[in-house]
Amino acid sequence: MTTIHYQLGLPEHLRTQAALLYDDAFRQKLQPIIPDDEIRRAIIHHAICPDLAIVAIMGSELAGLAGFHDAGRSFTGRGSAQALMRNLGWVRGLGTLLLLSLYKRRPRGGELLMDGIAVCRELRGQGIGSGLLTHLDQYACERGYRQIRLDVAETNTSARRLYERHGFVAVRTKPLSPLQRVMAFDAATTMVKSVPGGSR
Ligand SMILES: CC(C)(COP(=O)(O)OP(=O)(O)OC[C@H]1O[C@@H](n2cnc3c(N)ncnc32)[C@H](O)[C@@H]1OP(=O)(O)O)[C@@H](O)C(=O)NCCC(=O)NCCS
Repeated sequence: MTTIHYQLGLPEHLRTQAALLYDDAFRQKLQPIIPDDEIRRAIIHHAICPDLAIVAIMGSELAGLAGFHDAGRSFTGRGSAQALMRNLGWVRGLGTLLLLSLYKRRPRGGELLMDGIAVCRELRGQGIGSGLLTHLDQYACERGYRQIRLDVAETNTSARRLYERHGFVAVRTKPLSPLQRVMAFDAATTMVKSVPGGSR
């Protein structure tokens, strides 16, 4: 297998690949909110903050990414409101913004909150997801975070297994709102992992 290189920050020339990968990985959640493939991908492309991800690169291609929140920003949080209004118009844009806000999470003090981990379909099951989480651990440790938190859909058993192998523990499973249930899945489990020596 070709060597995988992990780094902090998405190189600008891989932004389009990142938007496609993120869209493919989270389509079940995003498609009911923004059904048009082209518009949804354009909005993700615009929303990406390249410095807020650990990325896995194979040769010159993006193999995977793990996004997160930091200092009030998140990997897919850049100016989504303007991009929505521009692509969908005011009325649909505002409605879409409202629906997306149902999934908004805010990190608590000392906590690194994840904003999606995804590996290209054809490269899954080869340890890249594990590699991304290991590098995310290092990042959290270097920055003095005390805890990493994420939410995983109750139906996403393979992702949950990956998190458990990496020391994440489920703290609660919350049924989603009726609207979210119609759109995607029934419940999400919050998982956390302590970061040794955290000082924040
Ligand atoms: C979840 C996700 C990121 C995992 O990425 P991945 O690269 O496949 O993860 P890994 O390869 O590290 O681990 C997955 C499996 O491969 C196995 N594996 C790991 N390294 C391996 C290797 N070198 N050889 C063979 N198998 C291996 C693991 O044991 C694991 O098996 P399991 O499914 O029985 O638990 C990926 O499936 C994905 O992008 N899913 C869609 C998006 C998503 O659901 N994200 C999570 C949202 S909360």
